[in-house]
Amino acid sequence: MTFSISRTTAAMSTKSSFYNTMQWNLRSFHKSSSFGIENNLLVSCAEMSRRNYATTIQAPIEQDKFFNREREIKALTTMLKMKPQLSIVSGPVNSGKTSLLLKILRDISENNKRPVLHIDLRERSFNTVDSFASSLDREMSSWMDQFAEVARRLQLDTSGYGFNLQASLVDKKSDLLPIDRINNLFEAMSKQLPPHSWWSGTQSPILFIDEASRMRILLKDKYGHDALTNMFEWFVRNTKQHHRFHVVLGSSDSFFHLWVQKYIGSSRFTSYVIGDLPRDEAERFWKERVITQLDFIRPELPPPNFTDAYSVCGGNMFLLEKYFGQYVQKIDGKFHKEDFFLLGAERSKLINALFKNGNGSPSSHTENGNPIWTREQLILVMKELVNSDSGFLIYEDLCKEVGQSVVDALIDYNLLHLRPSRNFAYDLPEYDAEKAVLTAETPSSFVAMKKLLKDIEQCKI
Ligand SMILES: Nc1ncnc2c1ncn2[C@@H]1O[C@H](COP(=O)(O)OP(=O)(O)OP(=O)(O)O)[C@@H](O)[C@H]1O
Ligand SMILES: [Mg+2]
Repeated sequence: MTFSISRTTAAMSTKSSFYNTMQWNLRSFHKSSSFGIENNLLVSCAEMSRRNYATTIQAPIEQDKFFNREREIKALTTMLKMKPQLSIVSGPVNSGKTSLLLKILRDISENNKRPVLHIDLRERSFNTVDSFASSLDREMSSWMDQFAEVARRLQLDTSGYGFNLQASLVDKKSDLLPIDRINNLFEAMSKQLPPHSWWSGTQSPILFIDEASRMRILLKDKYGHDALTNMFEWFVRNTKQHHRFHVVLGSSDSFFHLWVQKYIGSSRFTSYVIGDLPRDEAERFWKERVITQLDFIRPELPPPNFTDAYSVCGGNMFLLEKYFGQYVQKIDGKFHKEDFFLLGAERSKLINALFKNGNGSPSSHTENGNPIWTREQLILVMKELVNSDSGFLIYEDLCKEVGQSVVDALIDYNLLHLRPSRNFAYDLPEYDAEKAVLTAETPSSFVAMKKLLKDIEQCKI
C-alpha cells in the first residue's frame, strides 16, 4: 500500500474527526517512534486503512420520531454509567430493543464521546469461526480507533497501549487454526485495552452485539463450541473481573439467556427485558407519533380508533404503525380491526400447530419430525393463557401441568414467548420478579388464540 492510495481513501471520507484522528495518529507516531519516515508512513497507512471501518452509531429512528421510553432509558443509561458488566437485553419480537439501545448509545457516544461499538449480527455474514474472526477483527479495529480518538481528546497517556498503532488484531498467518486466530484476537485486544482507571469517571467503552443469538450458527463449525466458550470467558474477564468495558447482548430469542448461562453461569450477567408499551403510553404514542402522520398522507380521513388498534396490536409500536399503515391504504377508509394482517398469519401458525405440522422447521423438540405436544395440550395451554387475567402464565407452573419438554417445544415453535424476568418491562401486571413468564408470541397471536378457541368450541375446526 502506498501513502498516496491511502490519501485517496482518506479523501473519500467526509468526517472531520477522521482527519483529526488521522493527524493525531501521525503526530503521536512521529513523537513516539524511532522508526524512519518510510516505516512511519507504512504504519500510518495501515492505520488509515483500518479507519475505513470506523463506525458511528446510527440510530434507526430519527430523534423527533423516537417515542421516549423514559423509564427504560433511565435504567439502561444508569447501568452503563456504573462499573462494566455483561448485560443481556431481551424481550418480545419488535418490542423496540434495538431502537432503544441505539438511541441510548448514540447519545452516549455523541454527548460523552465514549467509544461505542455496535455489531449487528443480522448484518454480518459468517458461518465459520474463521469468518467470524475476520469480521470481529475489522469491527474491533474500528473500536480501537475510537479509543485513540477519546485518548486524543482527553489527552490521556497512551504509552503502553498499542491501540493507536496496530492495524490488524488477527494474526493473518495462513497455517493458523481458526480457533487460534480467534483466541489471538482476544489476546491482542486484551493487551491493548486500558484498565478501568484509565477512563475518566464513567467513560468506559461499550460493546453492543445485537441479534447475539445468531452466534449459535458457530456451533456448526467444529471449533465453534470452543470459540464461543473462549469468547464468553473473555467477556467475563473484561467486564466483572477487570472492568475494562461493558458488553450488551441483544436478542429476542426466548432461550438466549439460558444458552449464555450454560457457558458462564447465571451470576455473571444481568438480564433486562424490554416489553411493549403499557396502554396509557401506547395511547400517547398513537396520538403523538402515529395519527399525526394522517395530515401528510390522507388528510381527508378521520383518525383511526385507538381502542380498536390496541385490541389487536397491544402496546407494540411496530404493530400499531402497521395497523395505521393498513388503515390509510384502504381507499374508502373502511377498515375493521379483524382485517389486521397479522391476525391471519398468527391464526395460520396456530392451525398448523393444532394439526402438529412442524412445517419442516428445525426444532429440538420433535418426534419423527413432528412437534411433541398433543392437540389437547395445545388447547389447554391456549385456554389457560387467554383466560388468565394477566395475559401471561408462570413458566414453572405450566411445566408442572404439561411437562417442560412440551412447554419448551411451544416456545421453540414461537407459539409462546419466554421472559426470564420482568425487569424493566411495564406492559404486564406486577408479578413475582424472579419467576420466568410466558406470553403469546405477539399481541395479535393472543387475539388469534381467542378466536381459534371459539371456533374449536363451535366445532368449526
Ligand atoms: N421508541 C420508539 N419510537 C418509535 N418507534 C419505535 C420505537 N421503538 C420501536 N419502534 C418501532 O418498532 C420497530 C421495531 O423496533 P426494533 O427493531 O427496535 O425492535 P426489536 O425489539 O429490536 O426487534 P427484533 O425483535 O426484531 O430484534 C421500529 O422499526 C419502529 O418502527
Ligand atoms: Mg432488534
